[in-house]
Amino acid sequence: MKDFLTIPDYSSQELQTILDLALQLKEEWKKDGNIPRLQDKVLAMIFQKPSLRTRVSFDMAMRHLGGDALYLSPAEIGLGERESIADVARVISGYVDAVMARVFEHRHVEELARWASIPVINGLSDYNHPCQALSDALTILEKKGTLKGVHVSFIGDGNNVAVSLMQICAKMGAHFTIANPPGYDMPAPAIQEGQKIAEGSGASIRLLHDPQKAANNADVLYTDTWISMGQSEEAKKRRKVFPPFQVNQKLVSLAKEDAIVMHCLPAHRGEEITDEVADGPHSALFPQAHNRLHAQKGLLVHLLT
Ligand code: CP
Ligand code: NVA
Repeated sequence: MKDFLTIPDYSSQELQTILDLALQLKEEWKKDGNIPRLQDKVLAMIFQKPSLRTRVSFDMAMRHLGGDALYLSPAEIGLGERESIADVARVISGYVDAVMARVFEHRHVEELARWASIPVINGLSDYNHPCQALSDALTILEKKGTLKGVHVSFIGDGNNVAVSLMQICAKMGAHFTIANPPGYDMPAPAIQEGQKIAEGSGASIRLLHDPQKAANNADVLYTDTWISMGQSEEAKKRRKVFPPFQVNQKLVSLAKEDAIVMHCLPAHRGEEITDEVADGPHSALFPQAHNRLHAQKGLLVHLLT
């Protein structure tokens, strides 16, 4: 597999290999022993949307590995506007060793991968966020010791982050539950694909509209913004629908005593998550954000060596 566009493109063994590599690289980093495995390699980072974590963690990942990263802002590239995606892909393939792209429409990152001769990494689209899922799996692995049999409950919008989280849970044998407001489901084809994957791994997928039921006995409570990038015109409507899906202390008290709370960030405190929970004893928010660095180092080494 040349690219990293979706979780289902990878087998559970391949995902485990990347996670093991990430853990190994994290140990090296802790001992101040980064080995320059990607010396002289350069990653181009194309952004159509803002970012803190994805931008900085990929840049630092390349530096740790002895390589370099180029940040290309929306205004600079004008992906598919100033120039066709096919042309951008073929030109950039002659300059750098890999591309990471954050796009509005998922088909644009697919188009980039189709025409590029170098690995293309999806740094978030309107459909999914596989790099986030990889670091989430790493965080759950560290905090719970395993992914198999862990109960992961996502509370909120059936969005890009939910889709990739469901897919990695299905691949790795974790039980995934989502509670979303009616009308804010994950896309039906993604659900069907996830259910098929789950059948083969001993995982399960539950689709609920009741946040309390979803939180009950969960090992992991996960939430994300109610209004994703590109949805600002729906903000008013969404802010009316989503408040019963807030992850607050009352909801956390229904989960297992040692449950962890996760959020891909950026958080909208007082909306999908309260300060009390985000900064409370169950919160894994910052170790989770930190793990973007290590998970993506594993991914980059896997794709580029
Ligand atoms: N979680 C995440 O992808 O954060 P950024 O949008 O800041 O990259
Ligand atoms: N669902 C959010 C995730 C941000 C990292 C969005 O797409 O804006």
